[in-house]
Amino acid sequence: MSQYRSVKGTRDIFSDEMISWKHVENVIHRVAGLFGFHEIRTPVFEYTDLFQRSIGATTDIVGKEMFSFRPEPEGRSITLRPEMTAGVMRAFLQGNLAASAPVHKLYYIAELFRKERPQAGRQRQFSQFGAELLGASSPEAVAETIGLMMQVFTDLGVQRLKLKINTLGDLEDRNRYREALREYLEPYSGDLDEPSRERLSKNPLRILDSKNPEVQAVIAGAPKLHDYLNRSALDEFERVLEYLDRKAIAYVVDPFLVRGLDYYCHTAFEVVSPELGAQDAIGGGGRYDGLARQLGSKSDIPAVGFAVGLERLLIAMEKQGLLRHIGPVAPAVFVVVQGSEMAADAVSVCDALRRAGISAEMDLAGKSMKAQMRDANKSGAAYALFVGSDEVMSQKYGLKNLKTSDQEPLTLREIIEKLAALDRVRQ
Ligand code: HAM
Repeated sequence: MSQYRSVKGTRDIFSDEMISWKHVENVIHRVAGLFGFHEIRTPVFEYTDLFQRSIGATTDIVGKEMFSFRPEPEGRSITLRPEMTAGVMRAFLQGNLAASAPVHKLYYIAELFRKERPQAGRQRQFSQFGAELLGASSPEAVAETIGLMMQVFTDLGVQRLKLKINTLGDLEDRNRYREALREYLEPYSGDLDEPSRERLSKNPLRILDSKNPEVQAVIAGAPKLHDYLNRSALDEFERVLEYLDRKAIAYVVDPFLVRGLDYYCHTAFEVVSPELGAQDAIGGGGRYDGLARQLGSKSDIPAVGFAVGLERLLIAMEKQGLLRHIGPVAPAVFVVVQGSEMAADAVSVCDALRRAGISAEMDLAGKSMKAQMRDANKSGAAYALFVGSDEVMSQKYGLKNLKTSDQEPLTLREIIEKLAALDRVRQ
């Protein structure tokens, strides 16, 4: 074993687990395609002020969780992206995408970095699948975005998820509410825990989603956000809920749901799973109509999006036994070679099969024929193909069905025809 270890809060993914990741990613790409979302990739780091401006200076992410550094001592600080929304909006504005079409539907699978205390389901490098619908945030757009997220869960077979949804109203209403909440909470500051006391002056809304029962007891009597929202915000929220009903997506309205990032307005949502313990949020999102202007856009860009933590999604799937049936991809043919003199012929046979689109593997370590047969069986290959001096001379190779043990001598052309036909049947 090497003395080198991976960095705290990061992990390696080996091929067995990779199969589960690929399965999840394939479903994501397929469902995103069904909804007409297009993939986007943005840089892993951005200028630090992009995140300060968008996520908000008083949030936990910006306050204490960013990996920031200055490549040049006097230069601008840059930060490993802690989330994707800010970078996607930056790219959208910089690339002037609005000029080509009013609405863009983008999605991503990306690596993120947050300096959080690592624990189950919480890493310092993690992955998200997410979508950002830019140019519209109508109830239809919100429902469409939530619908995409929920269909991925459904197609993966994930059960027992709870979609919590709320409306935060517009900025003005929220500011009025923030003041009312602060006024209510101040006399109770002695009953609050340390993080909530800290939030009281900076970001009192965040106190609402504290999990501490003592804080929750104080919050129970607090003024309700919905009482401060204007009629049209509430009507719009109702229409989102109607669309969810129409799509048969179950939800719970949670008036205390406020998200940990500042850019949200109106509809915000979170999906939780009982499989995840303390870190129960599997995904979340909402509208962020104000972000474009905050980043310098001259026009309004209504927007809505979400992100789902893939490590947490896989933990939930594992616990629900959804990964067990996904086996490794086995080669069609394992070429067994009689001796090192025949190795060059075996290489050519493998290549001919691959050129014909048939997956083939062979021994690369000079093993005995017996050991190669063991490897052929272990690989899960459908067939073993023998390459010995007689076979090379006659140009007929023994093709053995590893399930039935039937064997027949065939030319390479016959083998290719037979396996290609089988493949077509299997598809
Ligand atoms: P978020 O709630 O900060 O939202 O993250 C979304 C999901 O990423 C979480 O629900 C969780 O599953 C996962 N996640 C977050 N931090 C970690 C971590 N340290 N380790 C493992 N998983 C983690 C956003 O990031 C927004 N950008 C979502 C969004 C997109 N809103 C609008 N568009």
